[in-house]
Amino acid sequence: MASYSSSFIRTITICVFVVLVVGMASAQLSSTYYNSSCPNALSTIKSAVNSAVANERRMGASLLRLHFHDCFVNGCDASILLDDTANFTGEKTAKPNNGSVRGFDVIDTIKSKVESICPGVVSCADIVAVAARDSVAALGGPSWTVQLGRRDSTTANLSTANSDIPAPTLNLSGLISAFSNKGLTAKEMVALSGSHTIGQARCTNFRARIYNETNINTSFASSLKSNCPSNGSDNNLSPLDAISPTSFDNAYYKDLVSKKGLLHSDQQLYNGGSTDSQVTTYSRSSSSFLTDFANAMVKMGNLSPLTGTNGQIRTNCRKTN
Ligand code: HEM
Ligand SMILES: *[C@@H]1O[C@H](CO)[C@@H](O)[C@H](O)[C@H]1NC(C)=O
Ligand SMILES: *[C@@H]1O[C@H](CO)[C@@H](O)[C@H](O)[C@H]1NC(C)=O
Ligand SMILES: *[C@@H]1O[C@H](CO)[C@@H](O)[C@H](O)[C@H]1NC(C)=O
Ligand SMILES: *[C@@H]1O[C@H](CO)[C@@H](O)[C@H](O)[C@H]1NC(C)=O
Ligand SMILES: *[C@@H]1O[C@H](CO)[C@@H](O)[C@H](O)[C@H]1NC(C)=O
Ligand SMILES: *[C@@H]1O[C@H](CO)[C@@H](O)[C@H](O)[C@H]1NC(C)=O
Ligand SMILES: *[C@@H]1O[C@H](CO)[C@@H](O)[C@H](O)[C@H]1NC(C)=O
Ligand SMILES: *[C@@H]1O[C@H](CO)[C@@H](O)[C@H](O)[C@H]1NC(C)=O
Repeated sequence: MASYSSSFIRTITICVFVVLVVGMASAQLSSTYYNSSCPNALSTIKSAVNSAVANERRMGASLLRLHFHDCFVNGCDASILLDDTANFTGEKTAKPNNGSVRGFDVIDTIKSKVESICPGVVSCADIVAVAARDSVAALGGPSWTVQLGRRDSTTANLSTANSDIPAPTLNLSGLISAFSNKGLTAKEMVALSGSHTIGQARCTNFRARIYNETNINTSFASSLKSNCPSNGSDNNLSPLDAISPTSFDNAYYKDLVSKKGLLHSDQQLYNGGSTDSQVTTYSRSSSSFLTDFANAMVKMGNLSPLTGTNGQIRTNCRKTN
């Protein structure tokens, strides 16, 4: 009995110790993670992002969104990059992603450049996080220090992509919950939505808004209808921010204040509810938006990373090793 309980206590002690060590390891991202193992990783990613954005400005928006859609599904673990195979279904055909997320080829190009200088060292998840930061900076937005050391998943989850990535049909309380489920505040949700100052949306995602909603500027709605007929042309594109679609600035919030949000979800942030004052603040102060945005991006980028011996460093971002 005495020996049973002392071994029991020893087992518990070891378990507690293991949990603490694992817990600490999993919290451990660092901005200098690749300083000795791949000192040129960040400069390599940045120059590849700069050339992709110079080639097509929208690519900056697409790379930013890729990071968001990665992080909201089981954390920032590059799960979104895994291709479907005969016996594996990933996240690419989830409703928010299918025919919509872009940038996979750019990530592949970056990954092969980084693999050629430091094989097996830099994760796909970190590449996506750094590429999002460099994309925003390339389009005139703020920069921030990216925490590094994320590892790549060996799984993906289609149903979580469908449930956890917020839909443009959500109302304000739905948007607040979707972000609060990830530990992000309503204020951070408003700041992160400022991403829609760049990039494009498909007609299918804003048709109901321009034909059926009343909290929209009438001439703005009319001007969108020729490119987005009431029937068909689902994939026709319009800019999320009509004022300056390829500049990362606070114009998105000016759009909202003048009832020119493109998506239903965009206008929800300024529709007589609890986030109106935050939108007004950002519409008047570019600096408060850019600062809050950068801080919220760091927080989003730290969602549930795989660290230590969890996950792997994929050789090819599209498949597990
Ligand atoms: C607040 C909830 C959000 C909703 C409901 C939402 C929804 C959408 C939708 C429907 C589109 C257009 C997709 C298409 O039509 O193909 C879009 C585009 C985009 N979203 Fe969001 N989004 C949200 C938040 C965010 C966040 C937090 C980020 C980044 C941190 C982001 C970044 C982008 C970017 C950059 C684009 C343009 C992508 C491109 O042109 O390729 N969005 N979003
Ligand atoms: C890590 O590398 C960056 C970029 O080269 C440099 O600015 C920074 O001082 C380095 N930090 C450490 C702790 O070595
Ligand atoms: C899954 O499919 C791949 C080819 O796409 C094949 O190489 C692999 O053996 C299959 N795995 C299982 C467990 O069926
Ligand atoms: C994805 O989109 C393609 C065409 O863009 C479509 O054929 C396919 O049915 C869609 N898949 C899902 C699961 O919605
Ligand atoms: C995806 O996540 C859901 C909800 O957490 C879970 O029930 C399901 O088993 C997961 N699917 C896969 C393929 O991991
Ligand atoms: C928001 O949407 C949810 C789910 O669709 C609904 O239950 C709720 O009543 C809506 N809230 C408001 C304020 O419209
Ligand atoms: C507009 O609303 C009506 C009534 O709810 C609906 O029948 C119609 O399909 C909607 N049109 C669009 C473009 O969403
Ligand atoms: C709608 O937008 C147009 C064009 O920017 C502007 O001239 C008009 O005053 C706006 N309408 C309202 C009601 O604000
Ligand atoms: C949409 O197209 C279908 C046939 O493709 C047609 O029957 C219907 O009347 C159209 N609806 C509208 C609102 O134009």
